Formats: sequence, C-alpha cells, structure tokens
Amino acid sequence: MQAIVEQLKKAAAETSATDIRAAFAADADRFSRFSVSLDDLLMDYSKTAVNDRILALLLELADKGGVAEKREEMFTGKAINFTENRAVLHTALRNRGNTPVLVGGKDVMPDVNEVLAAMGAFADGIRSGELKGATGKAITDVVNIGIGGSDLGPVMATLALAPFHDGPRLHFVSNIDGAHIADTLKLLAAETTLFIIASKTFTTIETMTNAQTARNFIATALGEDAVKHHFAAVSTALDKVDAFGIASDRIFGFWDWVGGRYSIWSAIGLPLMIAVGPEDFGRFLDGAHAIDTHFRTAPAEKNLPLLLGLIGFYHRNVLGYPTRAILPYDQRLSRFPAYLQQLDMESNGKGVTIDGTPVEGNSGPVVWGEPGTNGQHAFYQLIHQGTSVIPAEFMIAANGFEPELRHQHQLLIANCLAQSEALMRGRTLEEAKAQLTSKGMDDKKADFIAPHRVFTGNRPSITFVYDKLTPFALGRLIALYEHRVFVEGVLFRINSFDQWGVELGKELATGLLPVVEGKESAAGHDSSTQGLVAALAKAAK
Ligand code: F6P
Repeated sequence: MQAIVEQLKKAAAETSATDIRAAFAADADRFSRFSVSLDDLLMDYSKTAVNDRILALLLELADKGGVAEKREEMFTGKAINFTENRAVLHTALRNRGNTPVLVGGKDVMPDVNEVLAAMGAFADGIRSGELKGATGKAITDVVNIGIGGSDLGPVMATLALAPFHDGPRLHFVSNIDGAHIADTLKLLAAETTLFIIASKTFTTIETMTNAQTARNFIATALGEDAVKHHFAAVSTALDKVDAFGIASDRIFGFWDWVGGRYSIWSAIGLPLMIAVGPEDFGRFLDGAHAIDTHFRTAPAEKNLPLLLGLIGFYHRNVLGYPTRAILPYDQRLSRFPAYLQQLDMESNGKGVTIDGTPVEGNSGPVVWGEPGTNGQHAFYQLIHQGTSVIPAEFMIAANGFEPELRHQHQLLIANCLAQSEALMRGRTLEEAKAQLTSKGMDDKKADFIAPHRVFTGNRPSITFVYDKLTPFALGRLIALYEHRVFVEGVLFRINSFDQWGVELGKELATGLLPVVEGKESAAGHDSSTQGLVAALAKAAK
C-alpha cells in the first residue's frame, strides 16, 4: 500500500493534478467525469485535485488495502472491533430486507425487529396520549438524558427533521454541568414530562448524575411512585437499568455490536421516533439501508462512500491537509458537523495500526464546520485566503420545506455554489488589478492593493445535492458518512471502532473528584493541577 501512496504523492506533485482551475478549462466534461449519483443524491467531486491517474491509483489503493474484504467482514458480523472482540453491525439495525445476520452463529434480526416494534408501540402510546404521566395528564415534553453517541444523533436528527416533528416537544441534556439540566427543568412541568435515560453502558458519570437529578425532580414533585410513569431507558446493560427503578416495559435494549457513535439506528433513536413517529423513523432506516446496499454492491468507480473515503484519504495522507470542513447549506443540519465530529474523530483519531505499530503518515483529520451561510460571515475568510488548505464539503437540497420562501432557498443555493466556485477559481493578481483599475483606481495604488485581493484558488471541495431533507435523505446522508469513515479507517489500517483515547481523562476525573471535594490532598498531582485545584477551592463559595 505504501508504494501506491508514494505513487500518489508523485502524481499529485505534477501541476496538472493540483491545478483544478486549469483542469476545468481543459476539459468541458470534467463535472460528468468526476461526479456520481445514487437516485436524487449527487456527489460532485470534480472540484478536487483528482485526475484519471490519481483516481486509478486511489481505486488500486482500495483494492490492495482490502476495503472490499473488510466491508464484507463488517456486514457479516465478524469481530472487526478486535480490541473489544466485538462485531460492528449498525447495518443490521437498518437491514430492511431482513436477511439473516449472524453473530456467533445466532441471527440478530429477530431481536432487532422485536426492539423496533416495542419502540414503535411505546412511541405511539406517548404520541397519542394513551401513555400518561402519574397524574393522568398526557406527556407534552420528552427529555433525553445521554451524552456522546447517546445524545448527538438524536439531537442532530430531531433538528434535521423538524418539518416531520408532530409529537411532543424534545429536549436534550448531556453536560455534567448542572446548568444544562437546571435550564431545561425550568421549562418543564413534572406532570407532563417523560425522561429517557440513554446510555449504552449505564455507567457514564454525566448521564447517571443527570438521571439522578431528573429522578429527584419527579419524586419531589409527584412522589416516589411516579418515577415509573415518567422514565424510560435505553441501554445494553439491562441489569443496571433495573436497579434504577425503571419499569421493565419501558426499557429498550441494544447490543454490544452497536458502537455508541453508530447507535442512532437502535433504541437510542427513540426520542427521534417519538418526535416524528415510527413510520418516518422507518423511512430514516430505509435511507441508511439504501446506502448500505449501494456501498456493498455498486462498482468501485460509482460507489459514493468508497469514493468519498478515497478522496478523504488522499486529502489527509497524500496532500497532508489536517482538517476538513463540513458546510451544510441546510439550517436544519446545523448539528451535523458536531455529529460527524464524534463519528469521524472518535473512530479515526488513532495512532496505532491493527498490528500495534505506529500509523505511517496520518490518521483521521480534524472535522469541523457550521451551516452556510452563517459560516461565510465567520471563518470562510481563512478557507479562501488563509495559509492552510481546508477541503470543504458542501451539502444543499434542491428544495426547502417553505415553498412560500422559494426566493430565500434560491439565494441559499446561489451562495453554496458561489463558495465552491470561488474556492476553485480564485482570483489572480492580474484579475484583481484589472478590477481595481476598472473602478477608476490609479495604477500605482492598484499595484499596492491588488495582492490583498488575490485568491489562490485551487482549493478543493465536494458538493452533495439532494432533493429534500426527508427522513430517507437524512438516513442516507448519515450512512454515507459512516461508510466513508470506515473506508478511511481501513486505509489508515486502524481499528475505527474502539475509543480508548477517552478513557484516561475519565479515570483521572474519577481520581480528582475527592481532591476537588476537599476529601483528599492534591499532593500526588503535578504542580499545575495542584495550583488550579487551590485557586478553584479558594474562590468556591
Ligand atoms: O465518549 C466516550 C463514549 O464511550 C462514547 O463512545 C459514547 O457514545 C459515550 O461515551 C456515551 O456512552 P454511554 O452511551 O455508554 O453512556
């Protein structure tokens, strides 16, 4: 594989490869040659620094890197998360064809379908008002208490599918900072509130602490007996949920082969299902399934997640770009960049290969972003004229949900396309100068000012276009990015499915709590930590 990476570096060093602007000028067909579609979902990667040679090398890299073999291992339940000896089967959660998927010789689909049906019945009961609070009032507000993968997916997807939201109001509490739950509870009446405690492990300190605060809120207002009417739980650790006192028909399980950051398709999606209803939740799963089928069966050169992963690898490991910006021109995708941050950075932020040796080159990039057009008025300056090249990934729907505001949607589209065009085309010194002199500036001043108005151009971007942000389209988009992360992980030769990197901080926080509480001395800690503990203790009221 390394030999192909070296060939890629050589091919990319030729100006013809990285001069995207010249490539467009030389080839009227460039868009159709470097874009692919799946139904109404179009991925245009013509504005990246690829040419036929580079694409051929990337496809060879996928082949030699064993992407197809690893993909089959994932879909068929092999324990590819080998550091935890677990299969990786979020795809089974949206396996709408219901073909058997075996883990340790047992088909997981009956259990998957059973939980999905139980979630549906519960969601319908809450939505219709049939399942009431302890005092007989219908539930008007649902609070999901979870963090990381037990929060980001439901938050992001509930916002994204606002036009389909016809159930109770949704709230999300994640942070250990008491401000989060306190500000949320202020908005709520105990009698009409349902809490969903979402935690794969049911041990996460943030979630357990917030759950206890919520429990006190209900017990204080309505009595201890009311708890069973106002709580539900989602977890793989069913024994621990029992101990919390949640009624057994309100506990929704999932399995250790679902990674936290891949769990929106499981019972972790319950808040979303309550918001939009089981049918739309089913369409969301259908969208992901469509991508799964495509990823597994489409030829490499037409395979969206594969190509997206290959270009991601090319940007990171051949051209050395350290970050990627996710820029949805879709306000309802405002939390999608944050969602992808966990998906991508927790999966591919690794420094050790599957053999236990250091990663050669780089692993995953920093992922960040904000929706357009807001970002344009904040950080786009750096993307256009800063000294770092930041590959951008734009997404835009052909249609919004506000036909009466069609003009605003057209402005949104124009802005999105203008950004990718500007990044690619740039503005030369001559063009900048000509623009200034045409407005009457004298030559000397134009020479002085023009360099500040130069854009280097040739800055890469990918644009996704889709009809409308429906549940199906959202499911498809998330699954597309999941598989891109998978492809990059295989090429980085890492395990994308564990997350040991978050453990050390957790361990140290547990050790520091008695120090912060003043029960233990800070003596064993470094002088900075000791100084900070002392400063905080001194200022504490
Ligand atoms: O941040 C680490 C992590 O383990 C994530 O992978 C996970 O999504 C999150 O914590 C929450 O974990 P749990 O669902 O077990 O509470």
